[in-house]
Amino acid sequence: MNTYLRILSYAKPWGRFAPGYLIFSILAVLFGLLNLALLAPLLDVIFDQNGAEKLAKYTALPEFSLSKDYVVGTFNYYLLQTVNEYGKFGSLIFVCIIIIISFLFANVFKYLSAIVMAKAKAETIKNMRVDVYKSVSNLHVGYFTEQRKGDIISRITNDIQQIENSITHNLKIIFREPFTVVVYFWLLIMTSPSLTLFTLIMLPIAGVMISEIAKRLKKRATQSQESLGRQLNILDETISGMRVIKAFNAVGYINRIFSKEVKNYADIDYGFSKRYELSSPVSEILGAVSISGILIYGGDLVLNKGTLDASAFIMFMAVFTQILQPTKAIAGAVTQFQKGIASGERVFEIIDTKPTIVNIPNPRKLENFEKEIEFRNVSFSYGSKEVLDSVSFKVGKGKTIALVGPSGGGKSTLANLVPRFYDPDEGEILIDGIPMKEYDFNSIRDQMGIVTQESILFNDTLHNNIAFGLENINEEEVIKAAKIANAHEFIMQESEGYQRLIGDRGSKLSGGQKQRVTIARALLKNPSILILDEATSALDSESEMLVQDAINHLMKSRTSLVIAHRLSTIQNADEILVINEGKIVERGTHSTLMQHDGIYQKLTAMQGL
Ligand SMILES: Nc1ncnc2c1ncn2[C@@H]1O[C@H](COP(=O)(O)OP(=O)(O)O)[C@@H](O)[C@H]1O
Ligand SMILES: [Mg+2]
Repeated sequence: MNTYLRILSYAKPWGRFAPGYLIFSILAVLFGLLNLALLAPLLDVIFDQNGAEKLAKYTALPEFSLSKDYVVGTFNYYLLQTVNEYGKFGSLIFVCIIIIISFLFANVFKYLSAIVMAKAKAETIKNMRVDVYKSVSNLHVGYFTEQRKGDIISRITNDIQQIENSITHNLKIIFREPFTVVVYFWLLIMTSPSLTLFTLIMLPIAGVMISEIAKRLKKRATQSQESLGRQLNILDETISGMRVIKAFNAVGYINRIFSKEVKNYADIDYGFSKRYELSSPVSEILGAVSISGILIYGGDLVLNKGTLDASAFIMFMAVFTQILQPTKAIAGAVTQFQKGIASGERVFEIIDTKPTIVNIPNPRKLENFEKEIEFRNVSFSYGSKEVLDSVSFKVGKGKTIALVGPSGGGKSTLANLVPRFYDPDEGEILIDGIPMKEYDFNSIRDQMGIVTQESILFNDTLHNNIAFGLENINEEEVIKAAKIANAHEFIMQESEGYQRLIGDRGSKLSGGQKQRVTIARALLKNPSILILDEATSALDSESEMLVQDAINHLMKSRTSLVIAHRLSTIQNADEILVINEGKIVERGTHSTLMQHDGIYQKLTAMQGL
């Protein structure tokens, strides 16, 4: 129920929708009711032998009150007038015209209320999508490695779609139909209290059965959404890796994986439908049982006891069948809701996930990086896997520190701590002598440029990829950065130049070109601290030279933390840290390290330096 209310809270502002909806709905119900209310007295007068006598006493308008007597009295008064004037058949036509008009109004108002609700629904879905996307983008970097990508995408797309289909779609039922039921019941009570009491006993039985079905639906709905997430994950990985899949002749393999998941989904879906489809027949049968029960009980009142008029009984039955309709609709909506609630819970799970990297209250801003970055006994682990073990070092402003060592040693992890993508488990990182946690992490990241082995580019123009995240950047600045990054030349080879679209993740560019675009991006940002994580390792040697040249320009007069697989590129570093199994095992300049028989010496020998 809470999830449900929370979903509704996204239909803000309620003030804009609720009044219109309520008024239109009430009018629709009242006009609908009028039709039925007209039925009994009409039948009485026109077809009952004694009808004319009964009608004859309504010679004056009754005094106003909120009761059946007033409504009946008023109607009969006018009916008597018309009967006197136009005869019985004339009155029948007269009443039929009223019925048509009231039907017309009832449906016009029904339509208007539906329109208002449609708007509220559209708003709800829009607000939810925006909110969940905002929450996702604010989460810490670690979240995206822990959580499967397909699952996140699925929650934002499929689950919200599901909420739209099941919850908001049934909003109008849940809001209008109970009102209809109440008004109709009032009419029933007015007609025959004892018969109404009897029908009231029948309804809870139906209610219990329906809610029992509904309960079982939710679990299935959750499973089916989870499966959709896994399907998206498989799609994402296999479509982007199609080249490798084909090269390894693994098409059959991925087909089997996908079919298995899809089959799983189909099973869940079928299981859901089997139960879901049960709710309508069950309520139908219960409806028939209650109608029969009422026929017998009411028939007894009319035929044997004589305490109920035949016309009143007919009207009662007419109203009762009208109640069945909305009651069934409510039951259907409640079962449908289970799908939406299950999806709602999945969406709110993301919205409620708190980022683990947050600012302290009133953090200080890192306006200018002045002195040094210091790692003081920093340890870090992913879950239970320890990756960094009591690492300490300093990088002075304008200096270059290089991290080298065997793969898996923890170099990238260490580099990820500097922009505070993760917090250390133990120890501290200080910037200009102040613990990093005391700064606003955005102000730290503003000072940093990061180039990694994978070039992270977006399906946009070259200009926008270079000016990424920066505002008010003009063409000249972009060109200047691209020139320093050795990117201008290849960009200008195509006629669209900087306006050229580079494809999904930059797929229309070569590896070296992509990397030079990311370097141009870093140059344009003009950061005081640079983090380079194997920026050239994915490249062939020719483009590596171009990229290395660009990197050398980028590093000029900046503080740099460089992870390099090719040791020739870091020989001039002010300090080289050799990292192995999460520890600094050797440290010094190139020449001092070369004098020592250790890992560094071995690595350089391997690379033939
Ligand atoms: N997101 C992660 N979750 C769990 N373990 C990780 C994650 N990233 C890296 N690791 C593990 O941490 C260790 C260090 O990785 P990394 O810092 O990437 O090493 P390097 O950059 O030196 O090659 C490796 O054993 C790797 O398997
Ligand atoms: Mg690495």
